[in-house]
Amino acid sequence: MKIVEAKDYNEMSRKAADYIIKKIQNSPKLNLGLATGGTPVGIYQNLIKDHQLNGTSYTHIATFNLDEYVGLSPESPNSYRFYMNHKLFNHIDINIGKTHVPHGNAHHLHEECLRYERLIAENGGIDLQILGIGANGHIGFNEPGTSFQSITNIVDLTPSTREANARYFPSLSEVPTQAITMGISTIMKSKEIILLVSGENKAEAFSKFMIQEIDEKFPASILKNHPCVTIIADTAAMKKVKVHC
Ligand code: F6R
Repeated sequence: MKIVEAKDYNEMSRKAADYIIKKIQNSPKLNLGLATGGTPVGIYQNLIKDHQLNGTSYTHIATFNLDEYVGLSPESPNSYRFYMNHKLFNHIDINIGKTHVPHGNAHHLHEECLRYERLIAENGGIDLQILGIGANGHIGFNEPGTSFQSITNIVDLTPSTREANARYFPSLSEVPTQAITMGISTIMKSKEIILLVSGENKAEAFSKFMIQEIDEKFPASILKNHPCVTIIADTAAMKKVKVHC
């Protein structure tokens, strides 16, 4: 596990984006696993800027998002499909048919989970997965207590996750109670993972991550078992840990 410290959110975003851009330039057919939420927004802005200035091409890239809210259509401004289209895909030369987000409004949600899991496998798996971390240690929407063996599945969101994400919705009551998420074993099959941690509100979670034994009570702890994880954390997030980078 490699830890890279960034002085602030902008530097974290730039470092992560530079890493992704290099990967894409070396492997134009990369399968990229993507996250939503507040943390990766700066990365996506950097990828767009680089595409416009340097022409890095995404024509042959396939993307697989970690998760999607149950019950939201792709057109809903709060859906992760909408987020990805507006924050990244509409601004680069990616083939939209190669961008994958679970269908949160599928009629048969269980089938949809199996389809998504199969889709990733049939495409050869994820080469590079971007992850954020929840204040409770969740990765994707795999909340504390999720089995490390889990595959793509439907999950109940904890009250704390719904509250954390309520900032994007008109009110807390409109935050969906369930999501489809890649499972922990799905995430762990990625060849490489970048975990992003930013801000003082993640300092507690990051400090727990560093000292915590591998335990299903703290989902992110499983990343310590992955052979190729880079953590890019900013100084505010590292406030409560002492590490040598
Ligand atoms: C998002 C996701 C979540 C977030 C996490 C942190 O696709 O799967 O695990 O990465 O909730 O969210 P932010 O970045 O908003 O703090």
